[in-house]
Amino acid sequence: MSVIRLPGLVDAHVHLREPGYEYKEDFTSGTRAALAGGVVAVLDMPNSHPPTSTPERLADKARRAAAKAVCDVGLFVGATQTEQDAYLSAATQACGLKIYVNDTFGSLRIDTLALMHRLFRGWAEQAEGVGYRMRGAAQGIGPITVHAEELMVPACLALSQLYGTPLHIAHVSRRSEIELIRAAKERGVPVSCEVTPHHLFLSSDDLPRLGVRGDMRPRLATPDDVAALWEHLEAVDLFATDHAPHTLAEKEGAALSAAPPGVPGLETMLPLLLTAVHDGRLDIADIVARCAHNPRRIYGMPEPPESWVDVDVDLSWELANSGLQTRVGWTPFAGQRVYGRVEQVVLRGQVVYAGGQVLAAPGSGRVLFVEG
Ligand code: NCD
Ligand code: ZN
Repeated sequence: MSVIRLPGLVDAHVHLREPGYEYKEDFTSGTRAALAGGVVAVLDMPNSHPPTSTPERLADKARRAAAKAVCDVGLFVGATQTEQDAYLSAATQACGLKIYVNDTFGSLRIDTLALMHRLFRGWAEQAEGVGYRMRGAAQGIGPITVHAEELMVPACLALSQLYGTPLHIAHVSRRSEIELIRAAKERGVPVSCEVTPHHLFLSSDDLPRLGVRGDMRPRLATPDDVAALWEHLEAVDLFATDHAPHTLAEKEGAALSAAPPGVPGLETMLPLLLTAVHDGRLDIADIVARCAHNPRRIYGMPEPPESWVDVDVDLSWELANSGLQTRVGWTPFAGQRVYGRVEQVVLRGQVVYAGGQVLAAPGSGRVLFVEG
């Protein structure tokens, strides 16, 4: 047994499904899954039902999270085509603005240049008064985080450069995209990006085996795309799960074209990354930078005092569908042998997870940016 201590991890991309889809996940089940994965803070996406697109809905979501979460939660706002700027007055209470410029689960698709331009300009104008949190402003706003694939990547990079808006590109999956982001960074565009464990450890070659359990947006990419993410790891700021739970009945019961895309990931990220360390493909420092220090810097989240995760890096075990905290009870990585298991999680001096049990009570997590 060889136990090492890591800072509490941050997962900057999760879908906790409340309100509207609590049968998939809610603030309690989703944050319990976070603690089981060594994650002490999550950033929740706005494609709930209704979407988090107005100050009232952000306040409602914050009340739900405050009552139910067992780890810290930050909330994204998102634009809809009909409520374009409604969220702006609550911008400082969100972790950032999420814009979906490609099609996925939910109703938040923004697909005209006119509207994309308006959203970037509006966010930049909002920042004129308060500044950007990642640039040290105490009351500032977060980045614009985009779901952008293929040709939408240069479109977002151009708008970010035009307005000086910090841009974070979620779940990068292709060689073309990571190479372009790297080039943009080298030329000073204020861009950061994240990669998910499923895009690092699975490829389109796994689709025959996984079926709909391997269906998510962006889709699993080619082995050459996966190789490119590893080659350009220096340009990857974050590992984030895009934890997107749907029930197996929904995924397997529908025609493939109608099945909701997305896979859960909170409980499998750290063991998969530690297995890559075991295999000599990553260092512990790579994980700490991308799962703790960088997300805290990019989103402007102070590190909570007396908080850490103890992991047994030698322990070998098999990921399984049973025993998970996520309400949907499955993982695309079931059957995979991994090295490294979370033994204990401490948040603000309290043992919140130990020996496979979540010990924190609902409501003990904090809602970031809203509560101050
Ligand atoms: C996400 C979901 O289910 O909310 N699905 C997915 O495949 N990633 C939406 C998203 O993040 O694009
Ligand atoms: Zn997502």
